[in-house]
Parts: sequence; structure tokens; C-alpha cells
Amino acid sequence: MEALLCKRLGDPTVDLSHDSSPISISTSHPIPQLNLPTAIRVRVKATSLNYANYLQILGKYQEKLPLPFIPGSDYAGVVDGIGPNVTKFKIGDRVCSFAPAGSFAQFIVTEERDLFLVPDGCDLIGAAALPVAYGTSHVALVHRAKLVAGQVLLVLGAAGGVGLSAVQIGKACGAVVIAVARGSEKVQFLESLGVDHVIDASKSSIIENAKSFLKARKLKGVDVLYDPVGGKLTKESMKLLNWGANILVIGFASGEVPVIPANIALVKNWTVHGLYWGSYKIHNPAVLEDSLKELLSWLARGLITINISHTYRLSEANLAFDAIKERKAIGKVMIVLHDHNCTKSKL
Ligand SMILES: NC(=O)c1ccc[n+]([C@@H]2O[C@H](COP(=O)([O-])OP(=O)(O)OC[C@H]3O[C@@H](n4cnc5c(N)ncnc54)[C@H](OP(=O)(O)O)[C@@H]3O)[C@@H](O)[C@H]2O)c1
Repeated sequence: MEALLCKRLGDPTVDLSHDSSPISISTSHPIPQLNLPTAIRVRVKATSLNYANYLQILGKYQEKLPLPFIPGSDYAGVVDGIGPNVTKFKIGDRVCSFAPAGSFAQFIVTEERDLFLVPDGCDLIGAAALPVAYGTSHVALVHRAKLVAGQVLLVLGAAGGVGLSAVQIGKACGAVVIAVARGSEKVQFLESLGVDHVIDASKSSIIENAKSFLKARKLKGVDVLYDPVGGKLTKESMKLLNWGANILVIGFASGEVPVIPANIALVKNWTVHGLYWGSYKIHNPAVLEDSLKELLSWLARGLITINISHTYRLSEANLAFDAIKERKAIGKVMIVLHDHNCTKSKL
């Protein structure tokens, strides 16, 4: 089968034909075998790029994989083979899932309990973009911060993979959503979604801008901060937080781990949630399972739609990583293993 191999750590945006590229295409990689009675082999239709996949190849991610490895985490496709004890799936079912690695390939093997049926009417490219990004935001906002209608949610990096999912889930929960993104294209896109207020971080101070909006809407401040960026933006956002606010520490796309002063958290009764979505698989898998089932039902009902920003073939993986590195994406960057003409996930 065709698979993308990471043979050494380095910059995955370098052209694949160049000697310094850490990634290469193998066209004769062995098809993974059904290794357990409950194993299922999926023919991958699409797989998503997450910032973590980029960091993993750079060697800067918290979890290090032994080399060589096939990168990739969330994917969707069609059941291609099943072990003798599989009861819930049959060959031909449309499914999605996530794995610690291995989805940048034509086939992947997983266990029955880790697979989810994609509802009729939802396309597989959108379903492949859902588990990590939407899963992270759903667990963060619904399970951890317990966001409710009328609360004010501030989303940083709001046009990125997890950011855009947080915006949509915030709206689905009935929150007043303030989105922060950089550049007019991202701002216009967020406005087109009906976000309550969008701040262009490249143009204005988020504090003054958000304060004017809050004042005009007679709102005191922000109840939930969703932060996949870190650095200066986190520091500024803390000045907008209400007494009793929840801070969701999601990631550090800026490269700078923010400092959240414990003395201010004490005085203001803030709750700081460190959230590592993938670790729920080990420590509390039921939360992940319930969350993904709910998200797939929201997708089927049109409560969320998944914006596919860029799609690439496996052989163009360096371009896909470049879209992430250069902050070009609005929503999700995808690798599509068959046709890649689809630009927007629609129901
Ligand atoms: N905790 C978890 O379980 C979990 C799960 C998924 C992702 N994450 C983390 O969340 C972060 C975002 O992931 P993602 O997949 O959504 O990435 P993404 O699609 O690339 O989005 C990242 C966003 O961050 C903003 N950003 C600000 N400063 C940046 C910089 N210096 N470089 C790059 N982007 C910058 C960009 O928005 P502007 O250009 O508009 O500023 C961009 O849209 C990553 O740190 C990732 O590891 C964590």
C-alpha cells in the first residue's frame, strides 16, 4: 500500500524529493493485518492534519514515536476487513476514528471499540476532520468548562482547526462567542458563521476591542477562555476574565507557554483546566466515546459543519504541512487518498 513514512525528525514542509525531507512516500508498504479477533481494517478515504502531527515530525511534541513511523491521527474510510469476533461492523461500513499514529496510509487497523459509524449523509472527508479537533473542543467546553447558554466564550486562534471547532460548539451551546484571528480573510469567514464578535489580532488590541463589544452588549466579561495559542494573547485575554471564569489550556501554537498567575486565579476564583484530549483514551475512554457520538449526531443534524480549508494527496504532504506552518488554514487541512476535489464538507 501507499504510506507516508517519517524516517527521521525534521521539517516536513521541505519538498519530498529533497534529501533533507524527513518524510517520504512508500508505495510498497505492507498492508496491516488483522492482528486480533476484534480487529478491523479500514481503507482510509481521508485523514486530517493537526498541529500535533507537524510537531511530532519536528520532534517537538510531548509524545515521541519510535522511528520510522507513519504519522497521522484522525481518519475516515470504509471497513475493508474484520476479525472473527467483530459484531458491530461489517465490510463496507463508513467509519471514522483516531489513532496515536498511522493514518497517513491507504489502510489502517484498529479495534472494534475504537471505531465510530459515520451517519448517512455526512461525507467521509468531514468525518475524518472531526475526532481530534471537534473532540478536543467538545470535551473542553462541554465536559470540563460546562459551558451554558448566555455565557461569554473567548476563542483564540479561532480560524484554526481546534479554534473553529470551539467557535461552532460554543454557538451550538448558546454561548456569546468572541473569536480572535489574524487577517481579513479569517475575520470575514468567522463573521459569515454568525459569530457574535470577531477581533483581527493583526489590527487591534484584543482588550480594548473586546471591552467595547462587552460594554455595548451590557456584558461584564468573559466566562470561558479557550486557548490553543498561548503567549501574548493569553496574557491579554486574562484581563477580560470574569470572577469564576474557566481557562481551557489547549495548546501553544505561538510557541510560548503562558504564565497564569496563581495569585490572580485565587483572588478571581478562576479554574484552570489543562486539557490533553488524547489522554482520555487511557484515563477516561467513556468520555471520549460519548463525546464523539454526540458530535457525529450534531454533524448529522447540521449543528456543526466542517470547513475543509485545503485538501492534498499523500504525495503532497509537505504542502499540507506548509499550510499549517504558515497559518493559511481556515478550518481543517486534509489528505485525501482517492479524489481530492471536495473543498467543503457538506451534509
Ligand atoms: N490539548 C489537546 O488535546 C489538543 C488537541 C488538538 C490540538 N491541540 C493544540 O492546539 C493548537 C492548535 O492546533 P490546531 O490543530 O488547531 O492548529 P492550526 O489549525 O494550525 O491552528 C493554530 C492557530 O493558531 C494561531 N496561531 C497564533 N500564533 C501562531 C503561530 N506563531 N504559529 C502558528 N499558529 C499560530 C493561528 O491563527 P492566526 O493565524 O489567526 O493567529 C492558527 O489558526 C496546537 O498547539 C495543538 O498542539 C491540543
